[in-house]
Amino acid sequence: MTKAVCPGSFDPVTNGHLDVIERAARMFDEVTVAVLRNPSKSSRFTLEERKDMIARSVAHLPNVRVDVFDGLLVKYAQQIGAQVVVRGLRAISDFDIEFQMAATNRKLNSEIETVFMMTDTRYAFLSSSLVRELAAFGGDITKMVPEPVLKYFSR
Ligand code: PNS
Repeated sequence: MTKAVCPGSFDPVTNGHLDVIERAARMFDEVTVAVLRNPSKSSRFTLEERKDMIARSVAHLPNVRVDVFDGLLVKYAQQIGAQVVVRGLRAISDFDIEFQMAATNRKLNSEIETVFMMTDTRYAFLSSSLVRELAAFGGDITKMVPEPVLKYFSR
């Protein structure tokens, strides 16, 4: 049984994230979407809101669950028995930081493998920060986030 974890801030979860989660759900027996609790970083949505909007967006995926974590990702992965960390890769600009994080995690625990998924080209330039900015200026985000996320912006 291979368990994977998809970690992130998910502020908010986007269609790009969902695409990676859906593909991970086809590859691994169990996938945990893990939302980082980071008190030092201000976020548009509370931890509960972020968790809730993901849970509603992945309700059609029976082997996917949602959780929160703090501290080191590799420690959390070990705690829940996940052998794989899944990250989506968009443009080249993602590579530096992802390479650094994967190398650090590997140093911390070489038994946990990081797997990268190339983002679908439809979502290559999509990010949570772009969605937040568009929404703040009244732009249309309906094609960028899963349907359950929309109502959190109208609160
Ligand atoms: O969605 P994000 O903000 O790109 O996700 C980043 C995340 C949560 C994967 C990363 O910040 C993380 O793993 N934080 C936990 C702390 C940690 O383990 N740091 C060491 C590896 S760099």
